[in-house]
Amino acid sequence: DTDPRELESIAVDLAREAGALARQRRSEGVSIAATKSALADIVTEADREVETLIRSRLREIRPADGFLGEESDADPGTSGITWVVDPIDGTVNYAYGIPFYAVSIAAVHGGADPETWTALAAAVYVPSLDEMFHAARGAGAWLDARPLHVEADASAAGALLATGFGYDPATHAGDLGRVSRVMPIARDIRRMGAASIDLCSVAAGRVDGYFERGLKPWDHAAAGLIVTEAGGRFELFAADETGRVLVVAAIPGVFDRLATLAQP
Ligand code: IPD
Repeated sequence: DTDPRELESIAVDLAREAGALARQRRSEGVSIAATKSALADIVTEADREVETLIRSRLREIRPADGFLGEESDADPGTSGITWVVDPIDGTVNYAYGIPFYAVSIAAVHGGADPETWTALAAAVYVPSLDEMFHAARGAGAWLDARPLHVEADASAAGALLATGFGYDPATHAGDLGRVSRVMPIARDIRRMGAASIDLCSVAAGRVDGYFERGLKPWDHAAAGLIVTEAGGRFELFAADETGRVLVVAAIPGVFDRLATLAQP
């Protein structure tokens, strides 16, 4: 079955169950299990355990679907649907006890490449706030039961923006250049530490725009759909010399200006 509302309901149930496990493990104390590509690129035992839980549940209920997760090997599946999962987005926050972390689960159609897939359903759950952002393609986006609609006519002047710094040191000079180009239109800039929460914040009207180079597919698969279903704009811009794509999301009145300033 590929009905977006049914896939959404699976994503929501799984994100809530997985989030409860992440919150439980956090309360027991967390330590860094490994440092991956860079000092900020870490994994905890909880990341692995939460991904294993989500993957095994999906294997039971949707055995033909593919899987793409941050902490395990990809499986293309045979149904055309792929689940794209970040078990704990904002792992550095999680490891340090900062409450901004989320479980992100998307169902996409057409393979594991964000440039060509179609996102069908999404859930981003923030366990520490008990907030469930969710969306189904063509049906809308919600925060818990409240429908999300971004403000259509706000202008770029005075936008509150969010950003992040990619793990690849090759992107860091560009990250700082982007921040200084964007600063003049910004009321202020936040670096909250979880891309999925940054994107859901655009959908919920908590920030007006977000930009980051170097995201991985699981960081934005779910929240990108939540932004567009809320009436916001979300785009991936081509890789630069660092080989990393740039993600820009914003309310419509801010998007073009932000996307222009955010690109080299
Ligand atoms: C990271 C967070 C962070 C962003 C990084 C992501 P992770 O995800 O979303 O805010 O700046 O680019 O990789 O590793 O914590 O799942």
